[in-house]
Amino acid sequence: MTRAAKHPATLIPGDGIGPEIVEATVEVLEALQAPLEWETRAAGMAGVERHGDPLPAETLDSIRRTKLALKGPLTTPVGGGYRSSNVALRQTFDLYANVRPARTLLPGGRYEDIDLVLVRENTEGYYVGFEHYVPIGGDPHAVAIGAGVNTRAGCRRIAEFAFDYAVRHKRRKLTIVHKANILKALTGIFLETVREVGRQYEGRIEIEDRIVDACAMQLVLNPAQFDILLTTNMFGDILSDLIAGLVGGLGMTPGANIGRDAAIFEAVHGSAPDIAGQGVANPVALMLAAAMMLDHVDEHDRARRLRDAIDGVLRQDHVRTRDLGGQASTRDFTRAVVRRLRG
Ligand code: NAI
Ligand code: MG
Repeated sequence: MTRAAKHPATLIPGDGIGPEIVEATVEVLEALQAPLEWETRAAGMAGVERHGDPLPAETLDSIRRTKLALKGPLTTPVGGGYRSSNVALRQTFDLYANVRPARTLLPGGRYEDIDLVLVRENTEGYYVGFEHYVPIGGDPHAVAIGAGVNTRAGCRRIAEFAFDYAVRHKRRKLTIVHKANILKALTGIFLETVREVGRQYEGRIEIEDRIVDACAMQLVLNPAQFDILLTTNMFGDILSDLIAGLVGGLGMTPGANIGRDAAIFEAVHGSAPDIAGQGVANPVALMLAAAMMLDHVDEHDRARRLRDAIDGVLRQDHVRTRDLGGQASTRDFTRAVVRRLRG
């Protein structure tokens, strides 16, 4: 392969278990001969230690250049008034689509064949931060007021993203999740706009809608009825953790934050300071995030091979890290994945 054919990509080892699981993930990507050329940059506590900033300018410059990043978890430094680097990255690059797939990887759980994708609008809704207190009498916090903002343009771009994702990933159905019976304007505009965009996909993608509370119950009773769920920011925040729980928790769940100009792939879990440096972290979530990254750059065959290798190691080789009830170290697990990729 020529150098020119490689995708430049920013690699952020991150904090806590981050460097361990990032190293493991880079190793399996090398075994796949993935055409990626890394620029390693610091963020989080590592950024503070090296550059006095949890999101150093050279890290942002690198992502601006590569438009593609694989990121370990970042510890939000306590004190010093640092903003959350994760939120800052989302805002800086306008990463409006959060994609979180949940797929059964280990048999014997509550559900056997879950294969869901949640697409969450990542920039609008109730998380825009329009809130304040109204003091009354001696109580400075007598009344709290918060407003949400959803725009036609914002709803349209997330809808276009979700339908395009559905087509590219050969999905059959998209469920719009809303609360338009109560929040008639705020989530009504979302329902209305997504339906309008969906008309262009008639005959290709089945479209239905659900009210968020009923949807939460149905996800627990019968998750197999869903395929892609598309929803607004706060509902997506809540339901994405719910679907992670359906497949065994955050340690197995990858996520992507995607904008027009950049895409950042990560594990859903945090930096796990309690087990950092022990070599026992489960690298599955970050490896699955790397598979999403390969799909993003149209390396679908390598993405599939990586997912298949992880499946095989967990299900057939029974190599599992401690959090999954096994004995394997991060290195043992990584070696087992590499063995399958080379075998
Ligand atoms: P956490 O996800 O780091 O840990 C929760 C529990 O799950 C711990 O017991 C941990 O050992 C375990 N765990 C997590 N990932 C694991 C893995 N791959 N293998 C084995 N066990 C694993 O959540 P916590 O403790 O609330 O947060 C720690 C730090 O991470 C905080 O500073 C927080 O701000 C940050 N964080 C960063 C995120 C990101 O960068 N996307 C997301 C969530 C939290
Ligand atoms: Mg959340």
